[in-house]
Amino acid sequence: MEKQRLDKIIASTGKFSRKEVKALIRQGLVLVNGSPARSPEEKYDPEGVELIVNGETLTYRRYTWLMLNKPAGVLSATEDGRGETVLDLLPEELQRQNLFPVGRLDKDTEGLLLLTNEGGLAHDLLTPRRHVDKVYYTRVAGCLAEEDCRAFLSGMILEDGLQCLPAGLEILSAANGESEAYVTLREGKFHQVKRMLAQCGKPVLYLKRVRMGNLTLDPELSPGEFRFLTEEEVELLRKG
Ligand code: URA
Repeated sequence: MEKQRLDKIIASTGKFSRKEVKALIRQGLVLVNGSPARSPEEKYDPEGVELIVNGETLTYRRYTWLMLNKPAGVLSATEDGRGETVLDLLPEELQRQNLFPVGRLDKDTEGLLLLTNEGGLAHDLLTPRRHVDKVYYTRVAGCLAEEDCRAFLSGMILEDGLQCLPAGLEILSAANGESEAYVTLREGKFHQVKRMLAQCGKPVLYLKRVRMGNLTLDPELSPGEFRFLTEEEVELLRKG
């Protein structure tokens, strides 16, 4: 692999910023192949170098995978003149890694959004052929009933003629003119959850994605927070 600056290699693991790397090198706390590093500008093959930083062995990962709890009010885009995007929620060193969101959530939708720079796997997760389940928690106006579950399961045809794949609707509560439910989709058409529920006469009041494929939104993440996926989690995505 092409050689890269030491500070860039270490910062790409997400554990230290470039500024921190500089300070750690000065303190002799960065070991490269067993010897203290002299400068953040030294270049190495990231896949062939052994790094111990502040006593911890670092494993270089070619691609970055993040799980973000998207807050309402930000756009699932990489850049947009019209407002804050999910990339604006990341620290600078991650903003430089060409990350992009895996699929989109509406501006007012919250919850699980993956960000990566691994185009191949991201594409695989989004391709309709793979049928990766996406689960949403929703609160709607009106009382959801069995007939709505049946409509979801049968594969709805929306007003504009869009044929939906069979989808899951699990009612959690229905009282006082409002309902809560989980919706499971195997595809991701524009505003799909909102359109399906609107067609049942139950407009969405709140929407949050809680699962994508094998990954569940980490309950430790508050809206706007993110964490790196573990290697095991990336493997789970790969296996589908
Ligand atoms: N369906 C919607 O209607 N909105 C989203 O953000 C995601 C799925």
